[in-house]
Amino acid sequence: MDFEPTEDQLAVQETARDFATQEVLPQAAAIDRDHRHPKELVARMGELGFMGMTVPEKYGGAGFDAIAYVLAIEEISRACASTGVIMSVNNSLVCDPILKFGSEEQKHAYLAPLAAGTKLGCFALSEPEAGSDAAAQKTTAERDGSGWVINGIKNWITNGPVADTCLLFTMNDKAQGHKGITAFILPMDTKGVRTGPPDDKLGIRGSKSSQIMLDDVRLGDEMRLGEVGGGFRVALSTLDGGRVGIAAQALGIARAALEDSLAYAQQRRTFGKAIAEHQAIAWKLADMATEVDAARLLTLRAASMKDAKVPFGHAAAMAKLYASDVANRAAREAIQIFGGNGYVTEFPVERHFRDAKITEIYEGTSEIQRMVIAGYLAKGG
Ligand code: CAA
Repeated sequence: MDFEPTEDQLAVQETARDFATQEVLPQAAAIDRDHRHPKELVARMGELGFMGMTVPEKYGGAGFDAIAYVLAIEEISRACASTGVIMSVNNSLVCDPILKFGSEEQKHAYLAPLAAGTKLGCFALSEPEAGSDAAAQKTTAERDGSGWVINGIKNWITNGPVADTCLLFTMNDKAQGHKGITAFILPMDTKGVRTGPPDDKLGIRGSKSSQIMLDDVRLGDEMRLGEVGGGFRVALSTLDGGRVGIAAQALGIARAALEDSLAYAQQRRTFGKAIAEHQAIAWKLADMATEVDAARLLTLRAASMKDAKVPFGHAAAMAKLYASDVANRAAREAIQIFGGNGYVTEFPVERHFRDAKITEIYEGTSEIQRMVIAGYLAKGG
């Protein structure tokens, strides 16, 4: 397998790195402190082609591949994990399924503004009682003449309070279990849609999430995405791609922890020398660097399998499982390396520590990733 990036992929990485370093990083601490949705960065990412990276140009996207996408997410998340997930959800969880399951009319109507960053997407699968057990959907969609009436509550919806376009999952036939789930494209200004107050979160505080309440929401059948009863397949195949994005986000957080720790350890002195020269610290840095590289290889492998259009769900699960574990370990070690300075908000590593945790939870917990990997092994690997 060849992991040498092409010239185009390197150009994307360089653009993302410049943007992240010059425009995102200087604001990251304030975005976190103020719990602020970075609207202007979303607009800039739209201009740079980062909001619909793998959407073909004919639908208004940038026409890049999944490798370029993960390279960009890593750079942006290295600067600000909140900005990274806003971008990841829009790309992986909203543009991707519209591209894969949408009609030509839907693709032409919805992809261009999402890719331009003038509209923002969210993915409403989770409910108060349907998180890991995603098939346990309680939001109902009932036939109403030629259209549908939808009622229910969605929970922890990333981008929910600031989204324009929602990919919504509903149960239209409970007796059919997961085969009774149907997906819709829901404009968030549809009558009967309300969002709750933004969740008050441990980390990724610049990424707004909330409940979405649906009261007698009427949608025409042309807003259905995919087949009636085909929604679970839409959800799970979308999440395969989403998990590659979150692996790249976790990788960015891990790299931030490593790079900040290395810089700090080279200038902080104890017992007459830089702490990086003490073996206790040097070995931590060596382990962090090794794990970051391994996480990147798993993430690139999953992305390259997605590009090759071969089944990649298990590879995505492995990448997310490992990269999120690495991010959490690296951020914890970073605090230890910074010592007292690691525990105060003046330095960035406590933010990395808080941001890292969610990567083990959303888009499938680490336990769910292990279930997916074990299922793959049980089928003969
Ligand atoms: N792609 C397409 N179809 C798939 C699939 C995949 N990757 N995996 C399974 N399926 C299909 C199966 O083939 C099966 O279909 P058939 O019956 O037609 O054969 C069907 O789905 C059911 O499969 P399972 O019996 O394996 O399903 P399950 O109910 O046991 O659940 C699960 C499987 C892996 C646990 C799944 O429920 C899951 O991934 N749960 C986690 C949900 C999740 O990740 N939520 C994240 C919310 S979104 C989010 O976090 C966004 C954000 O804020 C950033």
